[in-house]
Amino acid sequence: MIHYLEAARQFQCNTVNMTYALAITDGGYLAHIYWGKRLPVTDLTSLLRLDENPFTPSVNPRDRACFFDTTPFEYPCSGTGDYREAAFGIEDIDGYRACDLTYVCHRIYDGKPVLDGLPHTFSDISTPMQTLELLLEDQPTGLQVTLSYTVFSDSDALVRSVKICNMGTAPCTLTRVLSCSVDLDEDRFDMLTLYGSWARERQVNRLPIRHGKQRIDSLRGESSHQYSPFFALLSPQTTESCGDAYGFTLIYSGNFFAQAELTQHCSTRAQIGINPEDFAWVLQPGEMFQAPEAVMVYSAKGLGGMSRCFHTLFHRHLIRSEWKDKARPVLINNWEATYFHFDLEKLKKLAAEAAALGIELFVLDDGWFGHRDSDNSSLGDWTPDEKKLPGGLKPLADAVTGLGMQFGLWLEPEMVSPDSDLFRAHTDWAIQIPHRPMTLCREQYVLDFSREEVRDAIWTQIKAILDSVPVSYIKWDMNRQLTELGSAALPASRQKELWHRYMLGVYDLMERLVTTYPELLLENCSGGGARFDAGMLYYSPQIWSSDNTDSRDRLRIQYGASLFMPPSAMGAHVSICPNHATGRNTPFETRGFVAMNGTFGYELDVTQLSHEEKEMIRHQIQQYHQYSHLVRNGLQYRLGNPFVCSDCAAQMHTGWDAWIYVSEDQSEALFTYVQITAEANMRSRKIPLAGLAPDAVYLYTINNRQQEQLGAVLMQCGIRVPNLWGDMKSIQLILTKK
Ligand code: GLA
Repeated sequence: MIHYLEAARQFQCNTVNMTYALAITDGGYLAHIYWGKRLPVTDLTSLLRLDENPFTPSVNPRDRACFFDTTPFEYPCSGTGDYREAAFGIEDIDGYRACDLTYVCHRIYDGKPVLDGLPHTFSDISTPMQTLELLLEDQPTGLQVTLSYTVFSDSDALVRSVKICNMGTAPCTLTRVLSCSVDLDEDRFDMLTLYGSWARERQVNRLPIRHGKQRIDSLRGESSHQYSPFFALLSPQTTESCGDAYGFTLIYSGNFFAQAELTQHCSTRAQIGINPEDFAWVLQPGEMFQAPEAVMVYSAKGLGGMSRCFHTLFHRHLIRSEWKDKARPVLINNWEATYFHFDLEKLKKLAAEAAALGIELFVLDDGWFGHRDSDNSSLGDWTPDEKKLPGGLKPLADAVTGLGMQFGLWLEPEMVSPDSDLFRAHTDWAIQIPHRPMTLCREQYVLDFSREEVRDAIWTQIKAILDSVPVSYIKWDMNRQLTELGSAALPASRQKELWHRYMLGVYDLMERLVTTYPELLLENCSGGGARFDAGMLYYSPQIWSSDNTDSRDRLRIQYGASLFMPPSAMGAHVSICPNHATGRNTPFETRGFVAMNGTFGYELDVTQLSHEEKEMIRHQIQQYHQYSHLVRNGLQYRLGNPFVCSDCAAQMHTGWDAWIYVSEDQSEALFTYVQITAEANMRSRKIPLAGLAPDAVYLYTINNRQQEQLGAVLMQCGIRVPNLWGDMKSIQLILTKK
């Protein structure tokens, strides 16, 4: 998979459909040669433009300023003449800021490195994978930089990471350590990014790149609602099913930076990593800094090919939970049913009704601890509110388990309310800058998780709950962004480390949770979907996608999320209508189909439902159990696009959306069609399917008529769906190979 061509001093990483090549130039610099469709293993160094004239007339072809500013560097540094965005920056003990990384040695080995303290992709014995490690050095400071590249035999992805060791004699400050940078020799790309807001996460933005820098980032301490740590570079002609798609994401949940820069000579520098803004890390002699992993995916099969590559890679090599291949219990969460207003009796009634309908897991959301009757108190005091729950959690948990259901619990471990015993006892445990007012957000502060004693104190409380009550599921929430970055435990020179140290602290506590209780189903959440990122997948096989449960909005949110995250990880619930976020009414059946395009559960007061709705719940649960393996382990093909009109490609609210999950052996598929807006006197629609075996005959029932058709016909000509009466009406059907 990874080859070293000694004469050419070239490295070539080949996967089934992809090649990534780089070389060592004269002078020992690492230059990028090629990334794209697979090439035979061959000398590609003639593609490097290392002998061209500098931009100012010069007889000296080694004009260093020009060399630095045009060479496609594999890991560009700042301060020596490359004026494009750097991947690596330092400030040495004397305040100087230039650095210059040159090749020392390399090794190629089977397997991949483990990243201590950070989420990372992992190997398994059944999947061959190889890693190339390149050691580079900045001689004056003695900094050694290891670039790692891992390729997998079952994926067209490249996983990169960067490790810095200070082998010098003086401390040195790292001012930027991006996880990947690649100089593509083309200029005609569209950049696709995901933007949004609370309850409106992961909206799709696709624009041609222009000369200059196009960036998305987060400086909020979380990957954020506003931008996802993901982008794709696409040929202008790339569609859902064909054309070049280069996808980038970061296995990290904190501040990130992602950028495409179109340069003077029309090459495109694409980068992703920890946000360099407000970042610095002091490295003492002998110390090491590890940057998070970046994942780069290439597909010639359009956006769909790129997404499926991310899905499969994450499913096989990032999600660790025992739950990833198991049917998740259908849950009911009491949040939208009760908000903070509940007592034991009310919850028991909800649980009893839910159990009678076949729901398998009862999740108690916010409001069960301290004296939390609204969002203005008690975070940090994880002891049950005896007023609402006399005798604590146990009577409720016993009642729930007695009904044959599992019991789940909401926690927000990283937070503290000003009105809490924890804050009163340890005011300095909250992130803050002395003598500066602390900004409140949702009436809460953020605990300084860079400090071990703070994490330990929270862990002790969590453990006490988990050891005394049968909790099978935890919803780990995080409901505010970080401000006034200051830690009482860090010296002035290290305050800029806090963003990243905070993230490492969060990961440490999640690691304790999932390793101490490996059978626990952990769902991450951050005010809806502010931490819907690959970093979280390492700990939790599912993540709450958005506080917006409106099915029409969910079509967009879940479409955007599916561009890089597996649908099996998308927390999605059926909720009540009119929807609490939008006031919209959507048929119950469609709410079920849209939630089934994710982890599936309920978030409503089941005691208030009509007989028909209850019957529908029973039916939906049965369908979920019949088909959820396809969502978990099948391949997803998006057939529509809720951001553009799938009939005429106009940027308006669309007529319809559709998707299909196909089993790996192509013997079974689950097709879902949602007619977003109804129109009078429309003919039936033909929706071309995807992913089926062309020569196989598939059986399916539509309009109560059993039909059979060749896969090739269903894919080329489409499946015919009737014009439905009403907005947001839908059809879901199973296709089975005859
Ligand atoms: C966040 C979550 C919600 C709910 C509330 C509780 O907003 O996203 O699902 O848990 O917190 O306060």
